Amino acid sequence: MSGVDTGVRMGELMGEDILEIENLSVRFPRRYGPVSVLDNINLSIGSGERLAIVGESGCGKSILGLAVSDLLPSSAVANGRIEFLGTDVRSMSKSRRRSIRGQGIGIVYQDAMTSLNPGMSVGSQLTQVCKRSGAEATPAELLESVRLGETRRILRAKPYQLSGGQRQRVLIALALARNPRLVVADEPTTALDVTVQAQIMELLLNLQSNLGFALLFISHDLALVSEFTQRIAIMYAGQIVETGLTTEVLQDPRHPYTAGLVSASVSLEEGDDELKSIPGQVRRPESFLEGCRFRDRCERVTEICSVRPRVEEEPGRDFACHHPYAKTASVGRN
Ligand SMILES: Nc1ncnc2c1ncn2[C@@H]1O[C@H](COP(=O)(O)OP(=O)(O)OP(=O)(O)O)[C@@H](O)[C@H]1O
Ligand SMILES: [Mg+2]
Repeated sequence: MSGVDTGVRMGELMGEDILEIENLSVRFPRRYGPVSVLDNINLSIGSGERLAIVGESGCGKSILGLAVSDLLPSSAVANGRIEFLGTDVRSMSKSRRRSIRGQGIGIVYQDAMTSLNPGMSVGSQLTQVCKRSGAEATPAELLESVRLGETRRILRAKPYQLSGGQRQRVLIALALARNPRLVVADEPTTALDVTVQAQIMELLLNLQSNLGFALLFISHDLALVSEFTQRIAIMYAGQIVETGLTTEVLQDPRHPYTAGLVSASVSLEEGDDELKSIPGQVRRPESFLEGCRFRDRCERVTEICSVRPRVEEEPGRDFACHHPYAKTASVGRN
């Protein structure tokens, strides 16, 4: 790849950065050869900040979450720098990395059934994590902090004996046991029905504001993202294509991909008979395009798009596109 800085760098908003990602690339050489499934990612999260990662299925959101949590599969090859609380995580020994991860980063995934150990009681799983991370809170206290009543029953229960919402609360309790400065929440409510989804989001948000951890919130759902996050990074085919304040990016997208996601989501909400979605689909990594990876689906495409676009940096907004939409004068209309 060229030496041009083509990743989008996010401005600092919320006090000191606790996580800084620089030129991060991830490949799966055995599966896709030299193609980067995460390509030159630049991103930072401020202390206590809520940042959304948004993009269609297969754009690399979960791989980014795993890279941040130092949980990439062993078949992945990562390059670049991930600095957590001032230390380059990737240059540390394995055991040191494990202890940093155990004490600073909590993870909440979509699928509690696979994230929890199915054969072990909730109490034993919480006890194990508390011990490893030197948590001060007891398992029962952790369950109370995620507002699970009947703590004695739940401590004894196996995951399958709980409802989806309860399991998700247990996952959040496990994340809290790590005294997190950062919680990575990867589609934490996708598997739940709408009412429970709202309760879990409210819980996460309350904990976030009381405990002050930063939240990396991975989601498809623009309505949730606009309600719960302050900044947003839009991903397409392993690259970050636009970043900025969530409200501004969603009201006044500059990148055609962001604009496509926004109209698809608006049409969903308004219950249009004819669902407006972006034509085509995300390519598999082995056939990612050179230049702008979105160009085969973009209505603004021209020849220049086969050259990778540089990142345009404007106050509060970064985007990587040769033909961005013009800035609307009055962001904040509606
Ligand atoms: N273990 C793996 N080995 C090889 N390729 C992988 C592996 N895990 C993910 N990938 C590939 O990396 C790309 C990004 O996957 P990822 O799971 O991060 O997407 P995503 O944005 O989280 O999608 P979704 O919204 O469906 O969760 C995909 O092309 C996927 O096939
Ligand atoms: Mg995912």
